[in-house]
Amino acid sequence: MAFELKNVVPWGRNLEEYTRIFKLTDSDYKSRIISFGDGPASFNFEMTKLDRKVVSLDPIYQFTRDELKQRIAETKDTILEQTKTNHNNFVWTNIKSIQDLEHIRMDAMNNFIDDFELGKTKERYIYHELPNSTKFSDLSFDLGLSSHFLILYSQLGLDFHIKSISEMLRICKEIRIFPILNLNAVKSEVLEGIIDYFKSDYQISIDLVDYEFQKRGNQMLKIKRK
Ligand SMILES: C[S@@+](CC[C@H](N)C(=O)[O-])C[C@H]1O[C@@H](n2cnc3c(N)ncnc32)[C@H](O)[C@@H]1O
Repeated sequence: MAFELKNVVPWGRNLEEYTRIFKLTDSDYKSRIISFGDGPASFNFEMTKLDRKVVSLDPIYQFTRDELKQRIAETKDTILEQTKTNHNNFVWTNIKSIQDLEHIRMDAMNNFIDDFELGKTKERYIYHELPNSTKFSDLSFDLGLSSHFLILYSQLGLDFHIKSISEMLRICKEIRIFPILNLNAVKSEVLEGIIDYFKSDYQISIDLVDYEFQKRGNQMLKIKRK
């Protein structure tokens, strides 16, 4: 099925959130990082400002800056409204209110929008759709990330996940995926299947992290070469 702008609901996090989501350390910051399904997050923009190298991949990078900006403007009120309706499904300690959420998300997405065209020319933002293979050679990156895409969208199925993660592990020494819940905030249906598939060849752990917005969504899956 074609990936159409009208089906895109852009929502992006920032570096401080990625740092807590993935327990990023100083040595992680200095490593070669690639982030899958990175969307309109400001992680790449903020890391670039700190002189760190990040490559972001996402199907939305096929669209122009103006198309994405327009789509963010069209969809953000609906997402905020839905979050308000489901207020009790979230933990309001770091993000304190709906207004706070709006500021944090809009700051991140505006920074992404301002950085997008330049970043595309520098190949920091690359159009790519999982589970397709990437253009990178084996072990081009130290760390591969997936925030709020793989495992969360469990309806994509186990086969999609195994193909996607296999490609990530081909080009990365280690990958980290957050959260390990599905969109209904319960343990993702694909989690056990992923662990079973990769456990004989890779070191796998589930780490507690210092980030919980979706209730009980405070664990990250780490898969590493043995
Ligand atoms: C909820 S957003 C998360 C964005 C960002 N990672 C963050 O946490 O702020 C999910 C992202 O997955 C992307 N996505 C959807 N289908 C994809 C696919 N087949 N391969 C890679 N990314 C995909 C979407 O375009 C979107 O940007």
